[in-house]
Amino acid sequence: MMGRQAADGPVALITGGASGIGAATSRRLAGHGWRVAIADIDTARATAVADDCGGLFVATDVASADDNEHVVACTVEEFGRLDAVVLNAAIAGRCGLDDFSPQRYRDTMRTDLDGVVYGLHAALPQLRRQGGGHLLITGSIAGLTGSPDVFYATAKHALIGLVRSAAPLLERDHIRLNTICPGLVNTPALASLRTTLLAHGLLLAEPDEVAAAIETILADDRTGQVWSLQAGRPAAPVELPEVHLIPR
Ligand SMILES: NC(=O)c1ccc[n+]([C@@H]2O[C@H](COP(=O)([O-])OP(=O)(O)OC[C@H]3O[C@@H](n4cnc5c(N)ncnc54)[C@H](O)[C@@H]3O)[C@@H](O)[C@H]2O)c1
Repeated sequence: MMGRQAADGPVALITGGASGIGAATSRRLAGHGWRVAIADIDTARATAVADDCGGLFVATDVASADDNEHVVACTVEEFGRLDAVVLNAAIAGRCGLDDFSPQRYRDTMRTDLDGVVYGLHAALPQLRRQGGGHLLITGSIAGLTGSPDVFYATAKHALIGLVRSAAPLLERDHIRLNTICPGLVNTPALASLRTTLLAHGLLLAEPDEVAAAIETILADDRTGQVWSLQAGRPAAPVELPEVHLIPR
């Protein structure tokens, strides 16, 4: 139990904070003076993490715009401010090309894409009122490459588009918007594949490596960046190709 955080520490809201990268981020930030609010659908595990962090848990389905508004309001009511939102909750794709169904496709997108957009939208008024803040999206290497998990990768590509498009517009409000794109990470989401991945010689980062990178990015002044993080390597912004419209 880390106990209650300093009354004047910065405040982070972390979606998907009950497990894996979100739980590690909640614990790391709480251990370094942040006050932490956790938004998740998994009440039992999120409550345990929030208790451990001396933080707040608010039952939240990120796919609901109302739930996102609610968790931001609860966070501000509890702590009086909001400095950073880590938009981290996601699920593996619920279908692929061969077992496609519109419902399962929507189930994927409503969490992995809508959930981030709604979270961003819900936080903006508070961040603007405060004169700035930081929105950090957990993307994936699948958003930079392709993946057999086609619609998960589609959502993660879209999040990079969101960052590149919205970050310049938010600069005037002193709101930074970035994304971290981890490679493979040893979390419950990957549990069923872990043995196979290791057998193929692939390295898995530990969740706290990603959490440490998230802490680094939250302290970084840059915006609109797509950060990459792989096991044992420091996080670094990715250089994306710049393509310009050709003047006539
Ligand atoms: N594990 C990896 O290898 C890996 C690699 C790259 C990116 N990521 C990304 O990291 C993030 C965290 O993944 P993880 O591996 O820690 O997964 P995880 O399954 O351990 O944790 C995800 C959390 O999100 C919550 N969640 C799921 N749907 C939700 C919803 N609708 N509303 C609220 N909460 C919801 C779950 O309850 C869980 O606590 C995700 O964005 C994932 O895409 C993971």
